[in-house]
Amino acid sequence: EKGTYPHYMLKEIDEQPFVIRRIIQKYQDDNGELAIDQAIVNEVLNADRLYIVACGTSYHAGLVGKQLIESWAKIPVEVHIASEFSYNMPLLSEKPLFIFISQSGETADSRAVLVQTRKLGHKAITITNVPGSTLSREADYTLLLHAGPEIAVASTKAYTAQIAVLAILAASAAKAKGLELDFNLMKELAIVANVMEMLCDAKEEMEKIASDYLTLTRNCFFIGRAVDYYVCLEGALKLKEISYIQAEGFAGGELKHGTIALIEDGTPVIALATQEHVNLSIRGNVKEVVARGANPCVISMRGLEGEGDRFIIPAVHPALTSLVSVVPLQLIAYYAALHRGCDVDKPRNLAKSVTVE
Ligand code: F6R
Repeated sequence: EKGTYPHYMLKEIDEQPFVIRRIIQKYQDDNGELAIDQAIVNEVLNADRLYIVACGTSYHAGLVGKQLIESWAKIPVEVHIASEFSYNMPLLSEKPLFIFISQSGETADSRAVLVQTRKLGHKAITITNVPGSTLSREADYTLLLHAGPEIAVASTKAYTAQIAVLAILAASAAKAKGLELDFNLMKELAIVANVMEMLCDAKEEMEKIASDYLTLTRNCFFIGRAVDYYVCLEGALKLKEISYIQAEGFAGGELKHGTIALIEDGTPVIALATQEHVNLSIRGNVKEVVARGANPCVISMRGLEGEGDRFIIPAVHPALTSLVSVVPLQLIAYYAALHRGCDVDKPRNLAKSVTVE
């Protein structure tokens, strides 16, 4: 039930802090230690390479997961779009392990890859929100998102839940390999939940950004570097699917290789700046687009802020920024769609779970 909320999407955005807290509870033992099915961790350690397969928003979560697993557990990861996989199958390593990420657990494109790779004898883990779903039943192992039912077509709380569970998997694998993290993941996730709550309280600012930048525009670009780039892909998908504004996420460094030709007077460019090691370069990109007339909206992280930034997110652990930086983008997409009179929860041409290939 959406209760007093005008739309499921807004309710589900607001639920994110609670979902993160529930995930902390579910994946932690009485001593506050990471608690994840040991058999899953063993499979991850036995593999020489992980293959994450997913579609849409779940694919975007997979991109973030790859970074976490590679940097913490030092296991190579490839991320594939399910629909491309079957006819573009990568050369598999000797001991591959498949991880399917699917909110619904019913996505036919992902299931097709699961069927195909099982035939080849490879094991699979499904990360899903729906216990008993097809992908959960057909995989060897399941990790649940515990996000509660997601009704809005535009996925929000499932995305952040997927990243949190991938982070827990990455940290558990790292720990099992003796590569202990130099911070407490669960404590940092609790901080993330608190910051998410503050961001959910910033609805007026997000509505103002949507009206200032997106009421009349035909298109909108999202730019970022490192993990911010992946979040930009997700922000652009959210905006395009519910507001029908043509939106694209780009890696800041790629602008000069073509995209910058699209910048005109007044083109909205939303830039994320949450990563210290690329802060100067992304700000350079903002200057480049401004010089071509763009209307910039910089969303940065406390400690990395610059003059003229439109919104500053309270600081979280640098590896977990995607969990919070996506929230303003979700809200901006929501209000842009609302202002343009779109059906937020049921956008045209889309279904909640895509059960055809
Ligand atoms: C976007 C969205 C879709 C889904 C995609 C995969 O907001 O919801 O892109 O993420 O169809 O769905 P699942 O995760 O159910 O496999």
